[in-house]
Amino acid sequence: MPNTKTHSMILGTGRAVPEKILTNHDLEKMVDTSDAWIKERTGIERRHIADDATQTSDLCTEAGRRAIEAAGITPERIDAVLIGTVTGDVTFPATACFVQERLGAHNAAAFDLSAACTGFIYGLSMADSLITGGKAKHALVIGGEILTRIIDWSDRGTCVLFGDGAGAVVLGPSDGKRGIIDTFMKSDGRLTHLLHMSGGGSKYPAQVAIDERLNYLRMEGREVFKYAVTAMGDAASMILERNQLTPDDINLLIPHQANLRIITATAKRVNMPMERVYVNVQEYGNTSAASIPIAMDEAVRNGRLKPGDKALLVAFGGGFTWGSVIVQF
Ligand code: ACO
Repeated sequence: MPNTKTHSMILGTGRAVPEKILTNHDLEKMVDTSDAWIKERTGIERRHIADDATQTSDLCTEAGRRAIEAAGITPERIDAVLIGTVTGDVTFPATACFVQERLGAHNAAAFDLSAACTGFIYGLSMADSLITGGKAKHALVIGGEILTRIIDWSDRGTCVLFGDGAGAVVLGPSDGKRGIIDTFMKSDGRLTHLLHMSGGGSKYPAQVAIDERLNYLRMEGREVFKYAVTAMGDAASMILERNQLTPDDINLLIPHQANLRIITATAKRVNMPMERVYVNVQEYGNTSAASIPIAMDEAVRNGRLKPGDKALLVAFGGGFTWGSVIVQF
């Protein structure tokens, strides 16, 4: 049976990205690479990099503040703060708790979600369920990362790909016209070894991690590429189908901004023309859980998403995890 229920709606969006920029030409001075290689293989031209004094909670707080302002509610009315991140400030407490405190969202439950680049989609899906299930009225969902803190700057296969940033939305009860139409989440734990950072947890505590250089993101790029294209294509097609929608019903596809080749291959699998696909990977690189909410906030503020428009969000990341959301603005 098609799932046509409208659960919750997006009341406001926000984003925060660091000012400092690292260009491909800057990277040419750090590793054996070239601007031409990076652009051709990834579409990335530059990425925004947090300075040493900035923590993930700083970017998340700023993005959250802007989303709350856009939503026109007070922080006290937020019942849940969810942050998708794999680069939180500390192992615990959750980064969401620091952000809750700084925003003054004192009536909320606050927790982080670990689903790598799919973190925001998982967060949106959980928040939608909380609101639909009557456990929350307003939720702040954030995707935020400082990935450059876990990058091995001597590994040219990964250091050219990633950047820092945060994006946020406030969800509230649907008005019946706008809202989240459906959400989908999936994982495959057989493939954890293809994209991971092993150090810093119970298996390899911090000191062991440093001694054995396990404190960096590691990735089998080609394998990730292959799975990402298939999973994102399937997640997008499946959610359209089960809601009896076609690509023509979607005004904007907002894919996780991993790499221009993954984005174009996904769009092709879904039969979505590139004019209706949001792309900003050239500016930010891959910001993991932050990429979709950053893109969504840009699209809302620059007029690419207008009231009444339907957007299809789709992501893939470490785990592997993947998922999709259809939302009407
Ligand atoms: N500059 C120059 N040469 C490079 C660089 C670089 N930065 N990185 C790798 N190379 C070289 C390799 O060493 C290799 O050289 P060799 O042929 O002499 O051995 C050659 O380029 C080809 O390497 P491949 O890894 O096969 O290159 P590929 O075309 O697969 O591109 C890339 C690599 C861009 C990482 C690609 O595999 C990719 O995009 N994968 C997806 C990864 C991704 O997006 N991960 C993000 C996390 S998951 C997610 O967000 C979806």
